[in-house]
Amino acid sequence: DAEADWTTGGPAGPARQAELDAVAREVADCSRCQLSLNRTNTVAGEGSLDPPVLFVGEGPGEEEDRTGRPFVGAAGRYLDKWIAAAGLDRRACFIANCVKCRPPQNREPHPDEIGACLPYLERQIAALAPRAIVCLGRIASQALLGTSTGVGALRGKVHDRRGIPLLATYHPSAVLRDQSLRGPVWEDLKRLKGLLADG
Ligand code: URA
Repeated sequence: DAEADWTTGGPAGPARQAELDAVAREVADCSRCQLSLNRTNTVAGEGSLDPPVLFVGEGPGEEEDRTGRPFVGAAGRYLDKWIAAAGLDRRACFIANCVKCRPPQNREPHPDEIGACLPYLERQIAALAPRAIVCLGRIASQALLGTSTGVGALRGKVHDRRGIPLLATYHPSAVLRDQSLRGPVWEDLKRLKGLLADG
């Protein structure tokens, strides 16, 4: 397959960029669920074309809705520290969310909204073929692992998601509210670092 990049399993660079652009365009026009009614901007995601890690959050907050960029508010500034602690550079990674439009009052996205939006994330995963996926919080962890198990039980090990190693950890906003979660997150970031060093 001339379009395939055998080094990573994903499509080659130009095809990758084209697919990510196509997803972002479709997201910008999307009205698959009611979250589209109240958005200021869609937030498709951003980052490198060849990311070692794809970080997946829940959905845009106020700052993200205003700017169209993922994780740029308080949770985002904290996430930037996590990424650095794992020995990574934010710009070299890719950051996306389960839902691409802000839920009103930052409520959790409903299952039907996640179901409507997940195909966009699936296409981003297929295009990027990241070496690892890190799910931030319960919503992303449950959506990508297809389970109703809590994040506390899902974290602490490496899952295999269709051939891609996946780590679940707490959401930065949750850790900002509850300092007792810092230790487990630190362990998860060390595990991520080790995983990337091994492979
Ligand atoms: N929280 C999320 O889950 N995603 C963002 O992009 C910002 C905050």
